[in-house]
Amino acid sequence: MSISKAKQELNWAELGFQYRQTDFRFSATYSDGAWSAGELLESPLIAVHEGAPALHYAQQCFEGMKAQTAPDGRVLLFRPELNSERMNQTAERLLMPQVPVELFLRGVEAAVRANYAWIPPHGSGASLYIRPMLIGVGENLGLRPARTFEFRVFVSPVGPYYKSAGMAVISLAVSEFDRAAPAGTGAFKAGANYAGGLLATRHAQALGANEALYLDSKTRTYIDEAGSANIVVAMKGNRFVSPKSNAILPSVTRRSVMTLAEEQMKMQVENRPIDLRAELPEFEEVAACGTAAVLSPVGRIWVDGEWHAFYGNGEKVGPVMQKLFDLLVGIQRGELADVHGWTHEVPME
Ligand code: PLP
Ligand code: COI
Repeated sequence: MSISKAKQELNWAELGFQYRQTDFRFSATYSDGAWSAGELLESPLIAVHEGAPALHYAQQCFEGMKAQTAPDGRVLLFRPELNSERMNQTAERLLMPQVPVELFLRGVEAAVRANYAWIPPHGSGASLYIRPMLIGVGENLGLRPARTFEFRVFVSPVGPYYKSAGMAVISLAVSEFDRAAPAGTGAFKAGANYAGGLLATRHAQALGANEALYLDSKTRTYIDEAGSANIVVAMKGNRFVSPKSNAILPSVTRRSVMTLAEEQMKMQVENRPIDLRAELPEFEEVAACGTAAVLSPVGRIWVDGEWHAFYGNGEKVGPVMQKLFDLLVGIQRGELADVHGWTHEVPME
């Protein structure tokens, strides 16, 4: 097994959000109540038993993170301990074993380090997407938890999640489907939540939107989140509001952006239910935020059969989201001072 120190010759600036096979992935196995030490593997294929609960009953979950190259060449993760914490919350909800934070970080760092050649260089606009996953792999026919699990981390260089480079202005369509019940699994990063959303995304795209926007499933009144990102809204009166809900993923990006809006932009930050229809006239700028989406301005939302446009007639990036994007990405790429200690350097030796 040889780890290349030479960078791949890729047109980094042209990358989209697609899987691209890299050289190594990290894998550890849980059986008889204990984790193996874990190792780097070359094959992207997993041999899974046909009776695996991950396949039948969706006993699996995942995380999404990025590594970026700083101007001085350091490779930085962003708040990885929060992804570890969230994976363990999901694992608990789905009766899967905890992945100790030490194993989680060691696996992520090992996968990043071993694929050094694939980490986009500073200034390329691209990043290394990291996908930790936990799956129930042993055989089971009855509906009960697996006894054997794999924790795997693979990586892939990626560009923007929404097609155009830089900050793409996107649109959302309120879905006629529900994503998550109030006491269901919406607050956890379970793959099953996403399977149910595929058709909703398809419907949203048929309306010309990029993604579905889900309202709370109990009253269909309050904003929950988009298919792959949380929502934040800049409202009249220098307010920065994000929906409070038991059914949405606790986004690392959203929590970070709320801190930046409060501390750096002196906005009044509120985390509370947002009544979409009643509060629409107050919306100045809207954005979808997440690891893949970063901070994508939402120009228009389709609600009850009509489009509602925000800043610049729904075609321009507004000043609040532009500033927050610059602050967030500047910290993530090691270009701005990291006063909160959010970045985590991956040792390269
Ligand atoms: N909501 C959903 C449904 C997601 O898939 C994601 C992506 O991870 C997010 C929100 C954003 O979370 P984070 O900022 O932690 O990536
Ligand atoms: C992420 O942003 O990391 C996600 O997991 C969203 C996914 C649907 C691409």
